[in-house]
Amino acid sequence: MEPGRNPYAPGAGTPPPTLAGRDALLAAAKLALERVHNGRSAKSFIAVGLRGVGKTVIMNQIQQLADEEDFRSIYIEAFDEIRLADALTKSLRPVLLKLSKKANAHDLAIRALAGLRSFASAFNVSYQGVEMTVKPEEGLADTGDMLADLPDLLLAIGEAARISGGALAIIIDEIQYLSEMDMSALIMAIHRCNQKSLPVVMFGAGLPQLRGKMGDAKSYVERLLDFPHVDALSLEDARLAIEKPANDEGVSYTSDALDEILRVTSCYPYFLRFIQAGRAHLRQALYMPALAAIRFNADMKAKYQALIAVGKPPKVAITAIMRKLAILASVLLREGRPWHDRSAVNA
Ligand SMILES: Nc1ncnc2c1ncn2[C@@H]1O[C@H](COP(=O)(O)OP(=O)(O)OP(=O)(O)O)[C@@H](O)[C@H]1O
Ligand SMILES: [Mg+2]
Repeated sequence: MEPGRNPYAPGAGTPPPTLAGRDALLAAAKLALERVHNGRSAKSFIAVGLRGVGKTVIMNQIQQLADEEDFRSIYIEAFDEIRLADALTKSLRPVLLKLSKKANAHDLAIRALAGLRSFASAFNVSYQGVEMTVKPEEGLADTGDMLADLPDLLLAIGEAARISGGALAIIIDEIQYLSEMDMSALIMAIHRCNQKSLPVVMFGAGLPQLRGKMGDAKSYVERLLDFPHVDALSLEDARLAIEKPANDEGVSYTSDALDEILRVTSCYPYFLRFIQAGRAHLRQALYMPALAAIRFNADMKAKYQALIAVGKPPKVAITAIMRKLAILASVLLREGRPWHDRSAVNA
């Protein structure tokens, strides 16, 4: 296929040419958005799944749905040591500025901006942008206790959104990186908005260990939020994900090739995309990890040295390590096992 027309461009979170097997989850998100917009309560959810199953793609789709429903949406990609106060201050500010331009929401949006300013200073958010002309409102989101301030702040924002006739969707990817405190405050804040029928809804995505982080609060939280599992695709959906983009370009797979792809990828979206993108991508992605593994992983180092010792050229030996890594990754994903550095050599 001509490179300029190849529909498969892999990359974290990039929309696949055919988004297979996620209709039910996207329909649930759409329904939640509609309900919230209509002043009805709706359950927020956090999609849980292993690396590479397509969580980020789902979050992006949901943001698109929210935009279609005339929501204000904020999208946060969490990372190690993120402070939710920082991320929220930065992303909520433009939302409130927009709301404050709407005549019917002006006063409540300015009040929420005042709350945001108090919130920012209570949490030492080093951000210049929060309107310095807006005076912080005493008693609104200014205690420095996240569990109290975040619900207050989101309630103020929810009220401004409601009176404007709009709604707010908070989308957070990699949510397992939030601290327990931030996560609890966020869930409590969403719950409070829901109780008051304010148009605020949250969609998150994260790794399975996220649920362990909720500790004692787990059963309580599970009543407030849904935790749908995102898994590898079914055979039928994986087949669709592979075949449709090719068929659309007038190209088809033989059934043997298709079966082989389904077998080696275990229907994992990430691997499906890689296979589709061609071997060059796979080579590029595995080359540096293979070099690192040869240096730092005893088993890989031993295998590499054994190949060199029998006279294989380094390139061939590195390729063998790349192959081992690919198989290892596929097995770990298929079995849902985390990687443990247990060397067969030193055991
Ligand atoms: N339903 C799907 N059908 C086909 N391809 C998909 C599907 N979902 C995701 N993909 C593709 O799989 C790859 C991985 O998706 P994505 O980055 O969303 O996974 P992830 O779960 O967010 O991974 P990570 O945990 O590493 O962030 C992307 O290239 C994406 O386009
Ligand atoms: Mg992701």
